[in-house]
Amino acid sequence: MNQIKWGLMGAGRMSGWFAEALSILPDANRNAIGSRDFTKGKQFAKTYGFQKAYASYEELVNDPEIDIIYIGTPVRHHYDSLMLALNAEKPVLCEKALTVNGAQAREAYALARKKNLFFMEAMWMKCQPAYRKMMEWIRGGLIGDVMSVEARFHTKSMNGHRLFCHEIAGGALLDLGIYPLTAACDILGYRPSEITSRAAIGKENVDYTNSTLLSYENGSFASVASGLALEKMISLFVVGTKGRICTSKEFFFQAQHVEAIGYDDALLGSFDGPFLKNGYEFEAMEAMDCLRHQKTQSDLVPPDESLAMMDLLDTLRAKWGLKYDFEI
Ligand SMILES: NC(=O)c1ccc[n+]([C@@H]2O[C@H](COP(=O)([O-])OP(=O)(O)OC[C@H]3O[C@@H](n4cnc5c(N)ncnc54)[C@H](OP(=O)(O)O)[C@@H]3O)[C@@H](O)[C@H]2O)c1
Repeated sequence: MNQIKWGLMGAGRMSGWFAEALSILPDANRNAIGSRDFTKGKQFAKTYGFQKAYASYEELVNDPEIDIIYIGTPVRHHYDSLMLALNAEKPVLCEKALTVNGAQAREAYALARKKNLFFMEAMWMKCQPAYRKMMEWIRGGLIGDVMSVEARFHTKSMNGHRLFCHEIAGGALLDLGIYPLTAACDILGYRPSEITSRAAIGKENVDYTNSTLLSYENGSFASVASGLALEKMISLFVVGTKGRICTSKEFFFQAQHVEAIGYDDALLGSFDGPFLKNGYEFEAMEAMDCLRHQKTQSDLVPPDESLAMMDLLDTLRAKWGLKYDFEI
């Protein structure tokens, strides 16, 4: 395999950012965009340097030239998008949240396994150098035993934004909350012994704000919150028995610098991991590396963690009584 040929599904905002990231990777070929609107697709192809535009997702996944599909459709449609791509024998990198619920994600992974196809959640945070360095420090005991994680992702979205739309699985949790929850679970584990959670559900029947306490057998805990209606507030703070970790910039999905500081305020570690473009290049590199090595799953974003996260999102929504109308 020389250049890896990418096909992008959905000519939206996120696909545009992903296309920009691909543009700086010499081994990535911007091959085709699939859009339900051909005019929009052709414009996208022109803007981002893609060779082809298709007027349907079906045509896109059935192009024999394409090596991998990136799914950038709204969360509600991920399951259909996944089934379409995997049934057409295409490896997939799919935006978060992977699907609306754990049952759909399990089905998609089962299909990928059956067909021996690569399938990875586009959890870009886990692929970034600063995040990986933070996890290396934590696992290596640099700040001792981690006792507490505080993580939040609040942003003020405008009314009418897709996050307010129940019909496409909007709400803060699936779009924003998944980041601080993933970071907390990466650090303390995906199986908390106790979960307490509350949410404020808005008139559109999506969660506006939510707050969760994950408690663990060893006495550690994570306080995690997200919201789409409050002012921007994005942070991660990790406290261990020997020190703490903080980040210079918005949470870890935007962090390019990370520091570990001891209780005597001594610098235990400092790391710079600059983005090469916009940060999405690292997940693309990981997916292409997996394809080149005939791997069907990523070690950086392993399926068992993506599935455990989907189960946790289900648990939180069940606690709040928030079910999407279209869920079976
Ligand atoms: N990783 C990140 O940092 C990040 C950031 C933002 C969003 N996301 C994720 O990326 C995905 C897309 O988000 P976005 O902000 O790019 O959304 P967006 O701008 O609304 O784009 C979504 C695209 O999906 C396609 N689509 C298919 N069915 C649709 C429907 N019923 N309604 C609306 N669009 C539909 C449309 O493409 P066509 O009309 O061309 O077919 C649309 O342009 C979501 O899963 C979101 O969670 C990730």
